Amino acid sequence: MQICNTIPALRQLLDEYRKKGKSIGLVPTMGALHSGHISLIEKAKSGNDVAVCSIYINPTQFNNQEDFEMYPQTVEKDCELLKPAGCDVVFVPSHEEMYPGGFHNDLTKLDFGSISEELEGKFRPGHFNGVGIVVSKLLNIVNPDKAFFGQKDLQQFLIINKLVKDFSFGVELVCCPIIREKDGLAMSSRNSRLSQEERNEASLLFKVLSQAKEKLIFGEDVNVVGNEAKEKIASNKFFKLEYFEIVDIKSLKPIHQIKGLEDIALFVSAYLGKARLIDNILINATKCSDN
Ligand code: PAJ
Repeated sequence: MQICNTIPALRQLLDEYRKKGKSIGLVPTMGALHSGHISLIEKAKSGNDVAVCSIYINPTQFNNQEDFEMYPQTVEKDCELLKPAGCDVVFVPSHEEMYPGGFHNDLTKLDFGSISEELEGKFRPGHFNGVGIVVSKLLNIVNPDKAFFGQKDLQQFLIINKLVKDFSFGVELVCCPIIREKDGLAMSSRNSRLSQEERNEASLLFKVLSQAKEKLIFGEDVNVVGNEAKEKIASNKFFKLEYFEIVDIKSLKPIHQIKGLEDIALFVSAYLGKARLIDNILINATKCSDN
């Protein structure tokens, strides 16, 4: 497994692979890797000759300075996990490498339209602009055949999908299923911020999502199901609910009447202590396919 810190070094290495006819799969991450990230690496390796993982805590996507500063940095440990997963190349650039002009300067703004205004967009202004910029950079630097993202950040995946289509990036995107702890908590680098007491409560979000999904399949009223779910989270003293939404998977706009169950996704975001947790569930799991 090779580690590159600069863009020219990475490009040179990948050019050599390409000359030999090897296909390249990219997994962009911010490090603090867990089994969720590793599942993406394994997918990248099984679908390509070369698996590349980028580790870069991208400052332009943090709308909260404390969240940025608290973000765990564990590159050595990350590399220990990446190697046995089959990762061939790790790209760990500096801020100077990624934003030579500084990241506080007037960078290009991306406007993804209405899908970036729903859900996370309401609570994290500017977040998807930063994601769009850094993912565009990574796709241009690596020029992969395929890039792998998690359903864990489904809105992010949909926005990157739009970015790739609208700018004609020559990459195939793959959306991979959410990897969960035994009790259902979606794995996240931010889970390490939970106290033991908070961790014991953390599976509530997945339980509420799963129960709401079952009720919708059973034919219960979407507004009633949504309100009950909100109430369950809001009444738990450990949580501070930001949103629980039952939405159309294409527009991400709330649904008030169900026409077909196929295209529905349930999203939740809540603070548990200092950790901001997000999770989602699809009624039809093949919509973010396990491919
Ligand atoms: P990060 O939060 O490190 O996540 C990297 C990738 O891992 C994302 O595609 C995310 O959806 C996926 N992932 C995280 N937890 C997962 C889980 N439990 N199961 C499956 N996949 C999971 O998302 C980002 O970084 C950044 O925004 C990035 C795209 C790298 C741009 O900076």
